[in-house]
Amino acid sequence: MRHFSRQLASKIASFLDLDPDGLELDLVDPPDAKLGDLAMGCFPLAKLLRSSPVKVSQDLASRDWDIDWLEEVVATGPYLNLKVNREVFSQHAISLIESSGESWGCTDSGRGKTVIVEYSSPNIAKHLAVHHLRSTMLGQAMANIFRSAGYEVVSWNHLGDWGTGFGKLLAAWESYKDFDDLDSPPLSDREDAVTDLNALYVRYSNDAKENPELEDLAREWFKKLENGDSLARDRWNMIRDVSLQLFDKIYARLGVQFDTVIGESHYEEAMKGVIAKLSELNILIESEGAEVVQVDEDIPPMLIRKKDGATLYGTRDLASAITRYENVQFDRCLYVVDAGQGLHFRQVFGVLKKMGYEWADHLEHAEFGVMRLNVDGHWKKGKTRGGQVVLLQDVLDKAVELAGAVVRKKNPDISESDLSEIAEAVGMGAVIFSDMKASRRKDVNFDLDKMLAFDGETGPYLQYTHVRFSSILNKAADSKMSRGDGSGLVEDEELVLIKRLLRYPEVTDKAAKSAEPSQLSQYLLELASDFNTYYAKHRVMSDDQQLSEHRLTLIESLKNTLATGLKRLCIQPLTRM
Ligand code: ARG
Repeated sequence: MRHFSRQLASKIASFLDLDPDGLELDLVDPPDAKLGDLAMGCFPLAKLLRSSPVKVSQDLASRDWDIDWLEEVVATGPYLNLKVNREVFSQHAISLIESSGESWGCTDSGRGKTVIVEYSSPNIAKHLAVHHLRSTMLGQAMANIFRSAGYEVVSWNHLGDWGTGFGKLLAAWESYKDFDDLDSPPLSDREDAVTDLNALYVRYSNDAKENPELEDLAREWFKKLENGDSLARDRWNMIRDVSLQLFDKIYARLGVQFDTVIGESHYEEAMKGVIAKLSELNILIESEGAEVVQVDEDIPPMLIRKKDGATLYGTRDLASAITRYENVQFDRCLYVVDAGQGLHFRQVFGVLKKMGYEWADHLEHAEFGVMRLNVDGHWKKGKTRGGQVVLLQDVLDKAVELAGAVVRKKNPDISESDLSEIAEAVGMGAVIFSDMKASRRKDVNFDLDKMLAFDGETGPYLQYTHVRFSSILNKAADSKMSRGDGSGLVEDEELVLIKRLLRYPEVTDKAAKSAEPSQLSQYLLELASDFNTYYAKHRVMSDDQQLSEHRLTLIESLKNTLATGLKRLCIQPLTRM
């Protein structure tokens, strides 16, 4: 819509003797289509001119606009209602979309800006569980959206690969050989090394509850690891490698890619610098033997070093943020982490600010709500404490299996190889979309049946809409139809679709600004629903060849928009299902 609002802005600037560059007009739909095709509130203009919005709107309505796509300008109170010349408006819109080609929907609002998006960030030696889906997919979608808004993006995985827990695992490795000797077969040759590691860890932790000496032994092993003991390091490296291999498999399946994978272990040296600086600044204070920094009166102080001298998760976050800024002078750095860590990030950001880092204001906790699972008919928070965690790979497999059944039912003659390919895409699409559908702060219920419904607000519904676009275009290809310039798109429902299409770049910008993929997912749902309304009433292909050609052009633009939008959300647009 910007293309059009800019034209209006430059006219208004000339009418009112204003600088067109500073004029940001917001074109909206009037509350009632009878009022016009587009509307514009005159409030910001009135403020600028120190006049009343009603007066401004009356004044503007009386001017000679002389814009080819504009038919009528009417003042209604503080609003200016516009009626467009549909032939010309549609033709301009289609030509704009077509000439943008691949970059349709991309903007340059982020040009010259760099953003780090940190997401997924799982702990090694454990499986990815279903709750990891949220950070992983929201983060990847944000990274994609930022890229399409012109930002330089660094996607970042902050692996949890350090901490006293690894002391336990290493101690278990050494002392539980008769339970499971991790040296034979070696970890790297095992079918499911991470499950074996986890089993050993759980066993050790349980035993340690009864036998505190095991805690001491674990501390010793962590010390060894910290001091670079070669056995400890080698084993830790193996643990890290098998974990990453497993993560990478799932990431590949989900379309997730990182530019940088750096574990918490990386910040040992940098942490020394942080602690030195905190003491130099006299903000590191002793509290019951430990060292803390008081951030704000209303939140508890941040723990920097424990009584035994061990650093913490938060200390590593301080070092990591500083290192990030040293390497990438970011304009924004987002932490896509669950809302439960809100206090943690307030502390981290607050301490950095206290240390005098101005860029601490550019750190954002892009928080999200919990994922609830159905446990015996009740919706419960994703992580089953003490009980079984639900593995992400199992959930994905289940989704694909169910998707396969749905697809086969719709399409009984489908070949096995087509089925497995489509089922994978639909299963992933269902799971991923359910995560992006609502605003990220909301909690989500993980409901496989609902997310696979083709007629709900789901991933498969959007994939299916894309299939419809493809088959309309394929049929037309058979009859060798060419494309119209869009000037024949004059029906009410066509204008609705054209206006919707034109909003795509704005949606990209809004989604990027607010780090909110649901802006895009909601937009795609609206686009699909507008299309369905249209398609229930009008036929694309008819005896009127010219009209058919205009409509094919519209379908092409819709398909292009839906396809790129889905891809940004890591959902595969399908051509058949
Ligand atoms: N590894 C952590 C966890 O599993 C999440 C890390 C979030 N990122 C951060 N910079 N603290 O809970």
